[in-house]
Amino acid sequence: MKISPLRQDAPDTGADIPLTYARTLSWFSLVVIVLTSLALSFFISNSARETLLTRQENFLHLLVENLNYQIYRRFALPTILANGHISLRQPSQYERLDQVVQSVIHGLPVDRLRIYDFSHIAAYSTKKDEIGKSGLAPLNVEDVLRGETPKSQIIAAVPTWQAPFRVPLGDGTFVLRVLYPLRGEPLQAGMSPPVMGALEVTQDITGDYEQVLTFQGIIVSMCLLSSMVMFALLLMLLHRSERVLAERMQKNRQLENELHSNEKLASMGRVVASIAHEIRNPLGIIRSSAEFLQKRADTTDVGVSRMLGAIYDESVRLSQTVNDFLDYARPRQPRQDITDINQILDQTLAFLKGDMGRRGVTINRQTAPNLLVRGDKDLIYRAFYNILVNGQQAMDGPGTITLRARREGDRVCLEFLDSGKGFDHTTLPRLLDPFFTTKDNGTGLGLPIVQSIIVSHGGTLELENGPEGGALARVWLPTAK
Ligand SMILES: Nc1ncnc2c1ncn2[C@@H]1O[C@H](COP(=O)(O)OP(=O)(O)O)[C@@H](O)[C@H]1O
Ligand SMILES: [Mg+2]
Repeated sequence: MKISPLRQDAPDTGADIPLTYARTLSWFSLVVIVLTSLALSFFISNSARETLLTRQENFLHLLVENLNYQIYRRFALPTILANGHISLRQPSQYERLDQVVQSVIHGLPVDRLRIYDFSHIAAYSTKKDEIGKSGLAPLNVEDVLRGETPKSQIIAAVPTWQAPFRVPLGDGTFVLRVLYPLRGEPLQAGMSPPVMGALEVTQDITGDYEQVLTFQGIIVSMCLLSSMVMFALLLMLLHRSERVLAERMQKNRQLENELHSNEKLASMGRVVASIAHEIRNPLGIIRSSAEFLQKRADTTDVGVSRMLGAIYDESVRLSQTVNDFLDYARPRQPRQDITDINQILDQTLAFLKGDMGRRGVTINRQTAPNLLVRGDKDLIYRAFYNILVNGQQAMDGPGTITLRARREGDRVCLEFLDSGKGFDHTTLPRLLDPFFTTKDNGTGLGLPIVQSIIVSHGGTLELENGPEGGALARVWLPTAK
């Protein structure tokens, strides 16, 4: 007998909703993580760049101040004292200034140094061919010549945003330029020193800039990588929980369906049981009438007596089935009388004696005396009867049923061992399922009834094969206190 097939309901979407949320949330968190880490890495690398630039700027400012002092002391002042004026077009003056400048910047990372006069012409340059040229001065040279604060500026040969993609950068891609007012000595105490020209120093910072960019790249890729790993873990977790949830939901649905069909089965059982109950009385009348007619009928008419015999046999079989079914469908509460197991066995064997004798079945009885249990002797009788009939049917002819009974602690152990072919290993787990039978005329209710009677008495039923073959049914019942 199989439980009805599962209902294929539409999937319950109720539990999917939180997971959809979780999925959206994880994508959202990925975006947040990526954006945050990108912002963080830009912030970190920008501050690294700022630090680098400030350091370079400070260095150039110090250098320029020193240059200013050296040029004034070692070149401007002596030249004016000797010649009355400064003219850098004179090679000797140029040489002198160049010596001063070179002695100061020697060994320092300075690319180029220029001095502009008031007409924005390059009066001096570390590159000799630039001297006397106009148009080289930057636009803000005028502000510096007016004595304003020094200006520093980065000159980039490529747009800054493109730089990370162009690493390695060529020499001179990023240049730092400082423009500084070249001053003399104050003419009177308390006055600001006069501006003599504008000093421009440039330094190639491409190498340092490239280092910052590499640093930035490492930070960005590390952040991206770690956020990807985190996200992958999150997705994995999500997938797993989705699977577990789906399995659980599937199981729930299955249980729900089983519950439904069990309920249906139970109510159907109740209906069938009441029908069976109604059938029992008329069936009894049919059986006894057939028996009566068999005795009275003309025994010479073979056809009639065979038909009456068939009616009688079939009604006996049918009432057995109905009784089995009712016993199973409406088990009654056992009475609690003190009963001796031996007495019940005597009754059962006495009832079966005639049938067994005809089939050549002998009983080998080894039962200890005084096996008292508390229970319902009618029900226990029915259980023993079913086991013994099964044994008799299994042998299908002459054989022996060995019957042992003894006390073991506070329990009585009963063993029914027949000399048949024993229980089939493949069907053994299903023998207690209601309606499971291998017989053409079986109901498959005998062993389930035995089981329910024994359990209702607080006992247990064990089915196995005997050491020398044959089926062994072992019954344990608690002794009466
Ligand atoms: N003594 C036995 N030896 C071998 N098989 C048995 C024995 N008793 C029961 N079985 C098997 O268990 C099945 C179920 O038995 P039961 O519940 O009494 O129903 P039924 O006797 O109506 O078939 C039988 O059909 C048979 O295959
Ligand atoms: Mg049976």
